[in-house]
Amino acid sequence: MKNTQHPPGSFGLPIIGETFSFVIDPYNFANERYQKYGPVFKTNLLGRPTVVMIGTEAIEFLLSSHMEYFSWREGWPQNFQTLLGESLFLQDGEEHRRNRRLMMPALHGPALANYVATMEKITADYLKQWEKQQEFTWFEEFKKLTFDIASQLLLGTNSASENSRLSRLFTQVTNGLFAINPLVLPFTKLGKAIAARNQILEHLALVVKERQQNPTKDAISLLVQAKDEDGNSLSETELIAQAVLLLFAGHETTTSMLTWLCVELARHPEILQRAREEQLQFVNKGALNLEQLGQMPYLEQILWEVERLHPPVGGGFRGVVKDCEFNGFHIPAGWQVLYSIFVTHRLEQIYPNPESFDPDRFSSQRQENKQSPSGLIGFGGGPRVCIGIAFAKMEMKIVAAHLLRSYHWEILPNQSLDPVRIPTNHPKDNLRVRFSPL
Ligand code: HEM
Repeated sequence: MKNTQHPPGSFGLPIIGETFSFVIDPYNFANERYQKYGPVFKTNLLGRPTVVMIGTEAIEFLLSSHMEYFSWREGWPQNFQTLLGESLFLQDGEEHRRNRRLMMPALHGPALANYVATMEKITADYLKQWEKQQEFTWFEEFKKLTFDIASQLLLGTNSASENSRLSRLFTQVTNGLFAINPLVLPFTKLGKAIAARNQILEHLALVVKERQQNPTKDAISLLVQAKDEDGNSLSETELIAQAVLLLFAGHETTTSMLTWLCVELARHPEILQRAREEQLQFVNKGALNLEQLGQMPYLEQILWEVERLHPPVGGGFRGVVKDCEFNGFHIPAGWQVLYSIFVTHRLEQIYPNPESFDPDRFSSQRQENKQSPSGLIGFGGGPRVCIGIAFAKMEMKIVAAHLLRSYHWEILPNQSLDPVRIPTNHPKDNLRVRFSPL
């Protein structure tokens, strides 16, 4: 007979379930229940019965081997559907496969090589500015830097005032994604986010028209020209929806990782020193290129460790579209599943001494992640792993390489670096630093 036993756990209060404890601290919420119930447990989040999945076997099941039992569109909360519209993130099945194939070339291969110089130039401009400022709040500054990079490379925007207007609008969209109040009024977070999204759409409609007439080397031009195997391309509405998603997904996450990278390097002078030494081989070799970026194994290890200990995205939602069974428990269609990146990254059985920042756990001798391939999932995993992973890693390496070669920074006193995990993981006081050339 088919197993009908649901995973252990509690649905909490009527209607709101356990949503409040989850929103206050998603990491502790999932970790406490993991300790009590194990890698799969039930709860109720955002008004829906939910199964939380943790650990490499559960992740493998959800993101790869049984992915057809789950829907992205049915999983993410309503605000995501309202604000991120018909974009890759919320598509499923054939529609998703076709669009992902069309979008891949803009974020991989030869396109990436074309992006290096722009990333380096924008980084150099910010470094000069930071040298002059001497003291600043890095999370805010990285947000500007990564947005400039995303909007120049993805949309070809060159005007500083246009960039900062768009960046402000995107911050409102992000705040709306996680708003609990569902009312759409001019003063609610969701109402403001929808108004901001409409302004972004108006801007993007103009950009798409322009690129259709005069394609350049930015990602949107590549998307305008992309064709599937039947010779069809993305419609204007599809292009705009995908561009909103790329801009959104492409900067807050990278900002979060860069901020935590700088926190950890400041906290660990010996790691900083080793990383600086690795950079010495490139000094006097001119502008960076893809080949050089591939020759920084220690920096790569550091970035993996930042991804592990400070994942910008704490987890992902899915809707269950077909009944399935995991670890002997029944997961019914109509429920939702949440996989926890935070908790999986701190499992002692994968990463001994998980709270310590130790890039050598990824060295060729130790390779802690290789024993559990689904144990490092800061960019998701399986066939729908983050489409921007190569773009993001390249950008972070370029910024890090320049910081390591030429700058010194100190964390200013009297601030809290406690992690705030929603909307994107960042230190509470946003990392205020004193910054100077070496
Ligand atoms: C440090 C930087 C980044 C992190 C940590 C990150 C993280 C993630 C994660 C965890 C997912 C999977 C979510 C899920 O399973 O539900 C994802 C998907 C995605 N990311 Fe990223 N991301 C980053 C940068 C970027 C960039 C730079 C772009 C685009 C330029 C991007 C575009 C996307 C898109 C479009 C998806 C959906 C892919 C699909 O469903 O096929 N991301 N990202």
